[in-house]
Amino acid sequence: MRVIAIDGPAGSGKSTLAKRVAQALGFVYLDTGAMYRALALKAHRHQIDPDDEPSLSALAQSTQIEFVREGDEQKVLLDGEDVSQAIRTPLISDLASRISVHSRVRRAMVQMQKAIAQQVNGLVAEGRDTTTVVFPDALLKIFLTASPEERARRRWEQLQEQGIDQPYEAVLADILERDRRDTTRADSPLKQADDAIVVRNDGWTKEQTLEHVLMLCRERLGEG
Ligand code: DC
Repeated sequence: MRVIAIDGPAGSGKSTLAKRVAQALGFVYLDTGAMYRALALKAHRHQIDPDDEPSLSALAQSTQIEFVREGDEQKVLLDGEDVSQAIRTPLISDLASRISVHSRVRRAMVQMQKAIAQQVNGLVAEGRDTTTVVFPDALLKIFLTASPEERARRRWEQLQEQGIDQPYEAVLADILERDRRDTTRADSPLKQADDAIVVRNDGWTKEQTLEHVLMLCRERLGEG
C-alpha cells in the first residue's frame, strides 16, 4: 500500500497540494477534513450539540462518507448526497473543528479512512493526524506549514472567490483559534511526526510547493 500523508495547520494549502499530488501520481486523494466536515454538517442538520460525544459517535457509526471522481473533480458524498459545496462554509469549518476533538468520533473516522486505503493502490491522505495516527507507516510524510498571517490571507482570498465576504482580521482570528484548538486537544493534537519532512511555504506559489513536494515523492517512490 503506497500512502503519502500530508499534514499541517489550517490554511497551509495542504488540500490544494494533496489534490494535485494525487492527480500527478495517479493516486486517490483522501481528504480527511472533508469527512469531519461532512459529519459536522449531518450533526448540524440533526441539531446535535457539538459537545455531545455519545450522539456524535453514534451518528458517525451510521454515516456513509464516500469520494467519487467526476471528471477532474472529486465529490464528497454524505449518505449518497453530494455535499462538496455545503461543507465549505465558515459555520461548518467551526463545527468540524469542534466535533473532531472527541475520541470516539475520531476512532470511527480513522476506521473509515483505513478501510478506504485498503481498497486502492496509491493514496494521498491529507489532514490532521494522517502522518501520526492514521498512516504511521506512510511511505512519505509531509508537514506543510506557513505563518498564521500568510495562511489567513490565503483563506481570505479563497472565501472571496466563493463570494463569502469576511474581514481579514476575522479570518486571522479564526485561524489562530483553530490552531489553538487543534494543537491543544487531548486526542490527536496537530503535531509533526518525527519522520515528517517540514515544508514551510511562506511566499511560495502553489506551483512551487507542488514541484518541491513532487520531487520528494518521486525520490521516495524510487522514480527520482
Ligand atoms: O482540513 P479541514 O479544514 O478541512 O478540516 C476541518 C476540521 O476537521 C479541522 O478543524 C480539523 C478537523 N480534522 C481533524 O481533526 N482530523 C483530520 N484528519 C482532518 C480534519
